[in-house]
Amino acid sequence: MSKKVLVISTSLRAHSNSEALADAFLSGAQAAGHQAEKVTLRGKAIAFCTGCLACQRTQQCVIQDDANAITEKMRCADVIAFATPIYYFEMCGQMKTLLDRANSLYVSDYAFRDIYTADRCGRGR
Ligand SMILES: Cc1cc2nc3c(=O)[nH]c(=O)nc-3n(C[C@H](O)[C@H](O)[C@H](O)COP(=O)(O)O)c2cc1C
Repeated sequence: MSKKVLVISTSLRAHSNSEALADAFLSGAQAAGHQAEKVTLRGKAIAFCTGCLACQRTQQCVIQDDANAITEKMRCADVIAFATPIYYFEMCGQMKTLLDRANSLYVSDYAFRDIYTADRCGRGR
């Protein structure tokens, strides 16, 4: 069955290693017959979550920036794959910021049931 697959590339570096992982995931999903789309956080304006929790009542973030369109794509996807560089043994800060800003999904009827992460660290280069 064809699924809607959203690949989110979170490195802000052009031609980054994790973007290559994202592209490989995208190609594989498309080759398997899925409806796959990639979004990158490079060039996007995504402010920090302020913790107001209005989204838990309204299912929308009060901050108007690029996070909202990405969150809507996340809500509609069956599968989400994140590609992230490892910063201090963790996901990168911009990925964490996006996840915080997607907190409206917590109370929404989101479609996704599968989440993947592909990460790239500095070791083994
Ligand atoms: C702020 C910062 C923190 C990092 N922390 C780690 C780390 O904890 N472990 C590691 O192996 N590499 C670490 N690295 C190296 C990156 O993971 C590595 O350069 C990675 O390939 C970058 O991914 P990208 O090409 O997708 O941007 C760090 C790099 C930066 C800029």
